[in-house]
Amino acid sequence: MDLFEHQAKELFARHGIPVPAGGLAATPQDARRIAAGLGVPVVVKAQVKTGGRGKAGGVRPAPGPATAEDAARGILGMDIKGHIAETVLVEAATVAVEEYYVAYLVDRAERRFLAMASTEGGMDIEEVAAVRPQALARMPVDPRVGVGEEAARELLARAGFAADVRDAIAGVLVDLWRVVAAEDAVLVEVNPLAWTAGGDIVALDGKITLDGNAAFRHDRSAFAGTSREESLEARARARRLNYVKLDGQVGVVGNGAGLVMSTLDVVALAGERFGGIRPANFLDIGGGASARVMADSLEIVLSDPDVRSVLVNVFGGITACDAVADGIVSALGLLGERGLGRPIVVRLDGNNALAGRRILERAGHPAIRQITTMDGAAEEAARLAAA
Ligand SMILES: Nc1ncnc2c1ncn2[C@@H]1O[C@H](COP(=O)(O)OP(=O)(O)OP(=O)(O)O)[C@@H](O)[C@H]1O
Ligand SMILES: [Mg+2]
Repeated sequence: MDLFEHQAKELFARHGIPVPAGGLAATPQDARRIAAGLGVPVVVKAQVKTGGRGKAGGVRPAPGPATAEDAARGILGMDIKGHIAETVLVEAATVAVEEYYVAYLVDRAERRFLAMASTEGGMDIEEVAAVRPQALARMPVDPRVGVGEEAARELLARAGFAADVRDAIAGVLVDLWRVVAAEDAVLVEVNPLAWTAGGDIVALDGKITLDGNAAFRHDRSAFAGTSREESLEARARARRLNYVKLDGQVGVVGNGAGLVMSTLDVVALAGERFGGIRPANFLDIGGGASARVMADSLEIVLSDPDVRSVLVNVFGGITACDAVADGIVSALGLLGERGLGRPIVVRLDGNNALAGRRILERAGHPAIRQITTMDGAAEEAARLAAA
């Protein structure tokens, strides 16, 4: 779960990391009011869950309330890489003498965290990492040990921070590690971390990704997302379905994570022959495939307006294909009209496949087309999505 910048800064503040004073605005008038309340020059920032906002014109300085209102009017509704800015953060403009980069993230391959720091923060850290990797110091972090002052100083020394800056920032790195540990984050990034004219250290940007698997340990209701993608995923989670929204056109439902993953691959491969059709989601119904589970799954997949066809790919095991077929038929009954609009390609194989196929044939539902092979079914689903 990715947080907005203003939410990340809320968590920073809670753990003692300095952030500029500010407030969230959904209208230009709100932005004006917040700027007036702050009584200093401000920066108006698009709240979207993607990077590169500054370059897209989504971060604008405003010397006073009237210009803040104008800036907000320009930014609200703006599309930044497919994300619409529904709110803006209006915060005190902070003059940075230097801009640094610091981050913690999960290093899956090493089964650890990785700490990173650079004296060259700002908007082009990706370029710094690519062109001069030595300017971005990296240090493994054992999550059981964490990051103390000493480790923080060592990382900063490796990155070439001056001694006085190291003294000022080491504590911030320790506090940021506490954000990782206490909030169960898989990514915490500050770019830029600013050294101000007044000698203060302030986080001017913040990016946090929380670990969804640790959600049960926290009350994250304040961070609940509102985008279509997030609401579909939340609905699926409430029904205990493993659903991940992707950006293609073929809805995919299958049993078992491995089968669903390979189904995504064959759909993407077949889709190349139909102008780049791609899977619209990952949905693993798990072991059981009752009518209820099938109905929930098809309902979620069909609620996605991007979906133009659905591929149900089931390999019968403990749950036999006839039970799955019964599930699909009753699911379509439960869905009624909603089940009719878009074609559903079904491939049943494995335990009791023949019995399952007969059930679907007899049901004769106009939305269903049966194909017996996985490649054939993927091809048909891609063709239908492109039609
Ligand atoms: N409160 C502030 N006061 C002054 N300058 C700021 C403030 N917030 C951001 N900036 C400036 O604007 C630049 C861009 O802001 P920010 O890093 O938040 O957005 P971004 O472009 O989306 O970055 P990223 O790609 O890392 O997400 C910063 O590098 C900083 O120089
Ligand atoms: Mg930034």
